Amino acid sequence: MIDNLKARQVLKKYIEKYDFSNPRIKLKAAHIYRVADVAKQIATELKLSQEQVELAELIGLLHDIGRFEQLRIYDTFKDRESVNHAEMGVKVLKENDFIKEFCNDEKYYDIIYTAILNHNKYKIEDGLDSEILLQSKIIRDADKIDILNLLVFETFETLYKKKEIIDEPITEKVLNAMLEGKQVERKDQKTAMDDWASNIGYIYDINFKPSFKILKEKDYINKIINRTKTPKMEKIRNYVNKYIDEKI
Ligand SMILES: [Fe+2]
Repeated sequence: MIDNLKARQVLKKYIEKYDFSNPRIKLKAAHIYRVADVAKQIATELKLSQEQVELAELIGLLHDIGRFEQLRIYDTFKDRESVNHAEMGVKVLKENDFIKEFCNDEKYYDIIYTAILNHNKYKIEDGLDSEILLQSKIIRDADKIDILNLLVFETFETLYKKKEIIDEPITEKVLNAMLEGKQVERKDQKTAMDDWASNIGYIYDINFKPSFKILKEKDYINKIINRTKTPKMEKIRNYVNKYIDEKI
């Protein structure tokens, strides 16, 4: 049985141990709860069973649990410069069977671990069992939706440790990928503006219609682009808005 009220209490206690004067810790703590809510919403709108909806919410709560150790040790979100935070999350959950405090039913563990390990991959791994694939797609959509949400209001200081990013260029390769409906690979991101634009490209890997509806309803893409209005960003705005409309 899944008891997300209990899982939320255990999570709250775990997160409270970390340094909340660090804005990146605060950001991730808030992100986790919103992702859990969005995952639940997507699963509900997909008309999944109650058990599947509860599991989607639980995976939402746990997907970024590795972020806290990552931030404590390295004070960065950048996996490239520290650790893969999904692998770190699974390690945290496996250590002393911590997962048991969140959910005592072992039949869910494989789905939870595999969905966490797949949530931050560039592409979802091949050959997953249908239930694991479904939950992996839900957490990927929910995570991306909330990353787009937080790009609307978080400071560049918290995100990039910079006051402003608008003076940085979007490199040609990143712009081209964005205007071809392709996700940008991390190795191609050379500037903070590349990273900013590439985040918008998350929409090219969104799986479900309810997810596109949430994005449109909240108007995240336009709000993000309004923070960094440049001619290249306007091109991205046009392309991306059309893409979303076609998916709904
Ligand atoms: Fe994550």
